[in-house]
Amino acid sequence: MIIKKTINSIQKLLEIEKVNLKKKVAFIPTMGALHDGHLSLIKSAKAKKQFIIVSIYVNPSQFGPNEDFIKYPRSLKSDLKKLKKSNVDLVFTPNSKDLSRYKYKNYNFKTLGLERKLCGSTRPYHFMGVAEIVLKFFTLLKPDIAYFGEKDYQQFIFIKKIVDQTNLKTKIMMGKTIREKNGLALSSRNKYLKPEEVIIAKNIFKILKETRILIKKNKKQLSILKEQKRKLIACGFSNVEYFQILTNDLKHAKSPYIKSRIFVAARIGSVRLIDNILI
Ligand code: PAF
Repeated sequence: MIIKKTINSIQKLLEIEKVNLKKKVAFIPTMGALHDGHLSLIKSAKAKKQFIIVSIYVNPSQFGPNEDFIKYPRSLKSDLKKLKKSNVDLVFTPNSKDLSRYKYKNYNFKTLGLERKLCGSTRPYHFMGVAEIVLKFFTLLKPDIAYFGEKDYQQFIFIKKIVDQTNLKTKIMMGKTIREKNGLALSSRNKYLKPEEVIIAKNIFKILKETRILIKKNKKQLSILKEQKRKLIACGFSNVEYFQILTNDLKHAKSPYIKSRIFVAARIGSVRLIDNILI
């Protein structure tokens, strides 16, 4: 496994590697604190015999002023061990100074307001910050395929839309949500949860599944969502930011909710958890 820390050195290496490489280049961008969700994206790329690049970079521009940038879990040493064990080919661990100097072509794309829905309603800076870093990585590394997790479904759709509208050649793939046995979707932010909070957190998936059954049986979306939101609060969540049904394209959903998903963001104290399921 090769590790590169600078833009210059990774670009030089890729120039040489890509000449002889008969494989497609797969890219998995991460902010580190790797868990089985990340590792399952790597497994998907491995199964297709792709050359795998993983980046580890906690991107400041996608965090709002009062968010968890400073305390975001950083565990480079153990992350690198996991990546080596997963037979990743190349790891990129850039720093902010180097990345801020890197100028790329300014692409024209319409976000279609996707960045203001769901998570964007309380995290107004988030998606444009994600777009900035992902476009930097894509123009720098020129991957054939990039993998994103289903848990961050809005991010997956947002990036797919941007890439569709620009002349980038990267194909955007989604890897399914990996869960604890108790149903809790794996997330680096789960590290913030105290044991008693994990007991509360696992109710997100339980209530999502229950909502799916109710919605299929009874089409009264508004009253069901209101009641399910109340149940989350009763379980111990301090706040439910959204509990909403949208189509897979993140548009208004209506009965019979074909190709639609239930999306939720809820907080336990300062810990913010998101999840979604297909109806
Ligand atoms: O999903 C994440 O971990 C981040 O948003 C990403 C895609 C690595 C960009 O910083």
